[in-house]
Amino acid sequence: MMDKPGNGKTGNLNLINNPILGKILFPGSEIQARISELGKIITTDYTGKDLLLVSVLRGSVIFLTDLMRQIDLESSIDFISISSYAASKNVHATGVVKITKDLEDPIEGRDILIIEDIIDSGLTISYLVRNLKSRNPNSLEVCTLLDRNVKRIAEVKIKYAGFTIGDEFVVGYGLDYKQNFRNLDSIYRLNTTVVKKDIALMDT
Ligand code: IMP
Ligand code: MG
Repeated sequence: MMDKPGNGKTGNLNLINNPILGKILFPGSEIQARISELGKIITTDYTGKDLLLVSVLRGSVIFLTDLMRQIDLESSIDFISISSYAASKNVHATGVVKITKDLEDPIEGRDILIIEDIIDSGLTISYLVRNLKSRNPNSLEVCTLLDRNVKRIAEVKIKYAGFTIGDEFVVGYGLDYKQNFRNLDSIYRLNTTVVKKDIALMDT
C-alpha cells in the first residue's frame, strides 16, 4: 500500500497531491535502505544486551515499527509522550518539557535506545535523556531518523542517525504538520510559500 488518501481536510485531493507538500527529500525506498543498515549496526552493538527501544510519541512510531523488524535480537518496546510548554504557547522553545505519558515498565539495569523522529534544538531529547538516566538503566543511547543540527541549542550525543538535514521543515514517514501527513511513505519538504507564516510561529 502506498501513500494513503487525505482525511478530508484538503477536500478531494489525495494526500500526495496536496499543494502544501514540496519536493521529496527522502523517498520511501531510501528510508528503508538506511533503516536496514541501522538495524544491522544496532544488532551488532546490542548482541548480548537487554535491549529496550523507547519510542517518543507520536512522530517516531513509523520509524520504530520498521527499525525493530531490522534488529535481529530479542528486544522489547515501550512508549513515552512528552510535550513542551512552548508548543502550546506558540513561542520559541524554552526547554520546559513534561511527560504526558510515561513508560509502562521500569528501565533499571536495561539497555535503552531512545527512538526519535527528528532532533532539532535538542531540548526535548536532552530532557528525556536526563530523566531516563535518573532511573538507572545499564546504558542509554539515542537513535534518530533525522538530525537537523543547524539549530541545536542543547548538546546531545546521538549514537545513531538516519539522515542529516538542513534548515527545512519536513513531513511524512511519521513527521507531521498540524498532526497531518504522518502516513506518507516518503519524507517531503513543506511548500514554504503555502505555509511560511505558520512555520515561523512553530516552536520546532
Ligand atoms: P527539539 O526539542 O527542538 O529537538 O524538537 C524536536 C521535535 O520537534 C521532534 O520530535 C518533532 O516532533 C518536532 N519537529 C522538529 N522539526 C520538525 C519537522 O521538520 N517536521 C515535523 N516535526 C518536527
Ligand atoms: Mg516528536
